[in-house]
Amino acid sequence: MRILRNFSLKNYNTFGIDVKAKRFISIENIEDLRNILRKTYAAELFILGGGSNMLLTGDIQKTVIHIGIKGKEVISEDDNEAIVRAAAGENWHEFVLWTLQQNFGGLENLSLIPGNVGTAPIQNIGAYGVELKDNFINCHALNIQTLEEREFNWQDCEFDYRNSIFKNQLRNQYIITAVDFKLTKKNHQLKTEYGAINAELEKKGISDPGINDISQAVIAIRQSKLPDPKKIGNSGSFFKNPIVPIELFEKLKSEFPEIPSYPVSTKNVKIPAGWLIDKTGLKGYRDGDAGIHKNQALVLVNYGKASGEEILHLARKVQDMVQKKFGIELEPEVNII
Ligand code: EPU
Repeated sequence: MRILRNFSLKNYNTFGIDVKAKRFISIENIEDLRNILRKTYAAELFILGGGSNMLLTGDIQKTVIHIGIKGKEVISEDDNEAIVRAAAGENWHEFVLWTLQQNFGGLENLSLIPGNVGTAPIQNIGAYGVELKDNFINCHALNIQTLEEREFNWQDCEFDYRNSIFKNQLRNQYIITAVDFKLTKKNHQLKTEYGAINAELEKKGISDPGINDISQAVIAIRQSKLPDPKKIGNSGSFFKNPIVPIELFEKLKSEFPEIPSYPVSTKNVKIPAGWLIDKTGLKGYRDGDAGIHKNQALVLVNYGKASGEEILHLARKVQDMVQKKFGIELEPEVNII
């Protein structure tokens, strides 16, 4: 376990922002994690997972702990189902591919989401009609103050759209060390209705898809719309899709009959933020190295040397323009630090 000082975080956040950590420690096992936590005040800590859902706007004057705990295993199985456990530092997509190699179904729609396993429950990652919560059983976490280990079951986590208890009451109080999922071994529940999955399968001439076909389709769709963070820095969707009252939606629909929406309840609907931003004309906009992706307006990008402040400035511009045109306030999905 090496303590690095004034360490650049450029390769540790998918936006590729070049800020420094006062101290940086990569942790590979729970014992080392406990040791560091014992020696460091909670207020002095900054916990880093895959760095895929954050915008760093300045140097971090704290001890950055990078959770690099690895491991994935089958905990139990019967003829129908398998319970698998992945350690927090496993790359999410590699873990999904590992489950598919064993013909375990459930995570295929969540292929190619950037980030690590340990941070996936915090914002209940989701894509193409599936959310992490749909296959989640429990997660194991360490209390930063007391160092006690605790298991959180599905209910404890209070999952919601891109949200959980770890973003609210328990923010910065626990470090997730491993996550358990329940996956199918046969009679896989395929979800092909959402987005362009069916169209992608048809294009390939696949009429009776399996879980690997779905994964391949999701990968192809994501690659066509979303920039690869290894090539162009980004954090996926920068804003949440806003949930608005039906009255406001009806008013907008009379002006913009083509406005897309997803039902939420009898009172509210969800509107794709990407569509709203697109309509302001900002898709493909670029200011220096900060920009809005040309294929998906919900994704803010760093073409190289943009600072976190520059990306944030652009995000504020997007919020202003959407507010003025539609009267809707966009809420960032990404954590701004
Ligand atoms: N749209 C536009 N212009 C754009 C972008 C989108 O008109 O520039 C329209 C599309 O035509 C479509 C609708 O908006 O009618 C929705 O677009 P899309 O299917 O691309 O999905 P999204 O709502 O923008 C959400 C998630 C993504 C997830 C996709 C697929 C959020 C904030 N984003 O995006 O998640 O991959 O659905 O399930 O919920 C992420 O969280 O980082 C992320 C990428």
